[in-house]
Amino acid sequence: MIRRIYLLFIALFCTLCLNAQKTKQFTPGEIWNDNNGKHINAHGGGILFHKGIYYWYGEHKIAGKIGNSAQVGVSCYSSKDLYNWKDESIALKVDEDPNSDITKGCTLERPKVIYNTKTKKFVMWFHLELKGKGYYAARSGVAVSDKPEGPFTFLKSFRPNAGFWPVNVQPCHKKPVSPDVKDSYCGGKGCLSAPVDSVNLLGRDFKGGQMARDMNLFVDDDETAYHIYSSEENSTLHISKLSDDYLSCSGEYYRVFVGRYMEGATLFKCCGKYYIIASDCTGWNPNAARSAVADEIFGEWKELGNPAVGKDSELTFHSQSTYVLKVQGKNDSYIFMGDRWTPDNPIDGRYVWLPIKFENGAPKMYWQDKWSLN
Ligand code: DGJ
Repeated sequence: MIRRIYLLFIALFCTLCLNAQKTKQFTPGEIWNDNNGKHINAHGGGILFHKGIYYWYGEHKIAGKIGNSAQVGVSCYSSKDLYNWKDESIALKVDEDPNSDITKGCTLERPKVIYNTKTKKFVMWFHLELKGKGYYAARSGVAVSDKPEGPFTFLKSFRPNAGFWPVNVQPCHKKPVSPDVKDSYCGGKGCLSAPVDSVNLLGRDFKGGQMARDMNLFVDDDETAYHIYSSEENSTLHISKLSDDYLSCSGEYYRVFVGRYMEGATLFKCCGKYYIIASDCTGWNPNAARSAVADEIFGEWKELGNPAVGKDSELTFHSQSTYVLKVQGKNDSYIFMGDRWTPDNPIDGRYVWLPIKFENGAPKMYWQDKWSLN
């Protein structure tokens, strides 16, 4: 009898503990523990909502500078309320085979997953840099799974839209490219000594495919999916329509924000309009975010300025955009998801999630130490 009471007491205690541990608010920039009490490890992430559950995919990082390269793969977490996340383990593993494009030690960034209702496949795209080649490869990787939590199977990596001109190509792009325009990585902002169109990186990469670094995916109301990526040595964004099965590029794409050096681009739709929130191009260091609006996905895009408001807005509250999440079951409710990178010890990177408000048609976000969906 005493033993029974003891066991009952323990069970009650554990239930109370578990409930007490349940989070009911967001605390941007703080440690965010998963169901195992470990800081969530899903950086540069994005969210898929499927059958009542949110899935958060992101870069799995390890401690120390080596963690800036992919040592493990892409993590997946699941949640019903967006506050409490269950570790679903590694959705896509890096490969031990040194000949694989995604061999351990490659750079695998900003994974995003979308669901194709026709093929019933979960499709992951990510920015891939080949091991030991810095940020020169600028490729897109694609993986596929039958289940949201994976395991995902790596299919291919490539530079998008090889052999296709963008819809808004200009005559200057079709002229022969000067041999001085080397096929080499020239870093971030300011790496080009001349306006991007005079250098014609688009023409340089026409045959082999366009450079694709920071990226995101967006599925429109009609289930057409789009890939948005920093191209042409990060100087210009491309918005590219995917094939019906979401596994390839369709060849139909637009250049937008030419020469504006945007990274961390997110694409979302609210009240019939398309929005982009992105960052400037300053490596791992935060900068002032940008926002833009368009009536059609390929534009014309109109810049709306920095969506962050108040103290530290010029550094987007020490974060960089990675995704804008539509909250299910609430009208026009969106969350800005940002990364607070810690490149000296990437596993310690924090997440800055803030509610987006629309003021005069422009997305805005204000710092909050704590907040909830209510
Ligand atoms: C900034 C990008 O937004 C990140 O995804 C990453 O590629 C870093 N640059 C690398 O410096």
